[in-house]
Amino acid sequence: MFQIRLQVFSYLRRKEGHAVDIALLGNGTVAKGLISHLQSQKNKGCELFSIRHILLKPDESLPDPVFTSSIDTILNDKDVSIVVEAMGGRHPAFEYLKAAILSKKHVVTSNKELVSFHGAELARLAQENQVAFFFSAAVGGGIPLLAYLRDTAQQETILEITGILNGTTNFILDAMTRRNLDFKDALYQAQKLGYAEADPTNDVEGFDLLYKLRIASCVAFGQWIDKESIARLPLHTIAAGDIEFFRKRDMTIRYLVNTLRNDNGFVATIQPTAVSSNGISAQIQRNNNLFLCRSDRSGEQILVGQGAGALPTAGNIHRDLQRISKGERMMINGAEPTLSADNGKLALRYYIRLSPFAAEMFPMEKVTETFETDLGVVLITHPVSVTWMFDRIDELRVIDARIFVCAIQTVKEGE
Ligand code: HSE
Repeated sequence: MFQIRLQVFSYLRRKEGHAVDIALLGNGTVAKGLISHLQSQKNKGCELFSIRHILLKPDESLPDPVFTSSIDTILNDKDVSIVVEAMGGRHPAFEYLKAAILSKKHVVTSNKELVSFHGAELARLAQENQVAFFFSAAVGGGIPLLAYLRDTAQQETILEITGILNGTTNFILDAMTRRNLDFKDALYQAQKLGYAEADPTNDVEGFDLLYKLRIASCVAFGQWIDKESIARLPLHTIAAGDIEFFRKRDMTIRYLVNTLRNDNGFVATIQPTAVSSNGISAQIQRNNNLFLCRSDRSGEQILVGQGAGALPTAGNIHRDLQRISKGERMMINGAEPTLSADNGKLALRYYIRLSPFAAEMFPMEKVTETFETDLGVVLITHPVSVTWMFDRIDELRVIDARIFVCAIQTVKEGE
């Protein structure tokens, strides 16, 4: 009943020319992007949403009455029907969104860490309280990939999702490949351009990708994948020599995520991967993202675009606001089980660059080629089980912390 009243009420307000009042938590890059985006809508004469409060940190000064440092002001304001979280971090974002849901407000967030850790609980609470919970901008910035997955999963069986979902590391790999920059200089440039996370460890060690892969997989497959079971290789030990090694073989390194449905459940990986230089992943330049979804009826669909940045991300948040306005409520249903990925059945070839001492510890029966390089020894393996390989890497990393490992993609016909 409450739901119907709310929908009729928002409809009447819009009919009378009133915008829906929202509150914005945070005033950083994404929040400023949304403010600018909503202003541009207003300038065009189609103001559907109006910002009533912006929550700042307690120590920030409040230059205008729209700003507040009290979450209670927002929670107690009956006119606020949607709370948009763009603060980042898990706390207090989680507590604030929980309180907003319990105050019967719809919630939208762009915070991938929050959704990865607390999405299941927020979705369940939102369902119990009959309010909306949307997070389209949490993965892929401005690319409408979660909405695509949600709509496709309602009609088809999704078999695989894969792609480049971190702009910072793609910028780094592209700069190392096309401009011969070293890793440090490329990372510095990405930071200066505002692509990297506050702590770039999340980008270069794959935690940002871990959050994104879990969220996209949940929307696509209706199941959360246990984060410990996702096979994740970091990127940050890569060197110019590794790029050069593959360049000579017409291959390019990209940092790929992949979830593959099989008879046993799922394979889930985050790995630097050598791909054909003629393939589509190798063409993705600068901080762009690529997302591929393979489903049983539509086959492969690919989305490419800006996976970060204030304005594209604001576009995805705005589309969530519009969904809520039209009466849509959920991206996930709040009852998804958690299961472990089983990477034992997937076999891949690997490139391992390590010190000569560490190389001696590697089982040579798994090696097809060995090279002596300026950076150390390079081993190319036969196809080996991903689980087996990750156990070996854990052992080798104790001996050589600078080891660099990347998967080698089998080149498909036509690439
Ligand atoms: N640091 C992230 C990236 C921001 O580079 O993709 C967008 O999630």
